[in-house]
Amino acid sequence: MSQDLCAVKHLTVALREKPDVLILNDVSLTVGHGRIVGIVGGSGSGKTTLGLSILGLLPSAMGVKKGAIMVEGKDVLLMDVEALRRLRGGVVSMSFQESASAFDPVFRVGDQILAAMAAHHPSAGALARQKMMDLLSLVEVPDPKRVAASYPHELSGGLRQRAMLAMALIAKPSLLIADEPTSSLDVTTQAKVMALFRKLRRELDLSILLIAHDLGMVRALADEVVVLSRGRVVGEDHPYAKELMAAENI
Ligand SMILES: Nc1ncnc2c1ncn2[C@@H]1O[C@H](COP(=O)(O)OP(=O)(O)O)[C@@H](O)[C@H]1O
Ligand SMILES: [Mg+2]
Repeated sequence: MSQDLCAVKHLTVALREKPDVLILNDVSLTVGHGRIVGIVGGSGSGKTTLGLSILGLLPSAMGVKKGAIMVEGKDVLLMDVEALRRLRGGVVSMSFQESASAFDPVFRVGDQILAAMAAHHPSAGALARQKMMDLLSLVEVPDPKRVAASYPHELSGGLRQRAMLAMALIAKPSLLIADEPTSSLDVTTQAKVMALFRKLRRELDLSILLIAHDLGMVRALADEVVVLSRGRVVGEDHPYAKELMAAENI
């Protein structure tokens, strides 16, 4: 397919109250089919805002000043409610930085995944349960039954991250935006989650926008890397990018 799955063009986002404060400043990037594109930048550089904007979910305090966000050839910024529903319901999905906050602490993980599945495709109990187990196996949860029966706090960070990934994959998205999927994990678990992303790309033909502050990790996985600094795309030879890399070498 020649058309990029996702193309952000000159996206400029400002605070509504202070329009001269640019959260994203002329950001352009493309994600091709089956590609992994890394977004790297320090805290506050605009990574999460960029991810949310592709889902049409900018914080209400922000407004788009300029630019376009094309997904499958259509501009997210011009989509009506129905088109946005389709976009979020099947084309683009996002997993969030804090897997703890993605789950409600008072419900079992499996019940929350089932509820999310029901929102997409109502299906009967046993079938839905089997589909959930398949999803948990796909993200390499070693004991899906136990994980499904657990409350979020009973799981390790790595397992919670996998369960959240399972939830993000329910509707078979074409593009997964993974916001700092490994930043709260230890190094060994990080490596395993990264290997999982590789497998998901291969087996599901998934495109991935991988957001992280760890340039080394993103480099190892991504086909392309975009470095953000204060809302702007900078080259990998930018002093800030070098700082990030240096930090990785410690
Ligand atoms: N809901 C919000 N309202 C106002 N400002 C916000 C909001 N969310 C984030 N910001 C600001 O936007 C900038 C970029 O934030 P963010 O996209 O979360 O960065 P990152 O994910 O790279 O850490 C930061 O300066 C942050 O303070
Ligand atoms: Mg963030």
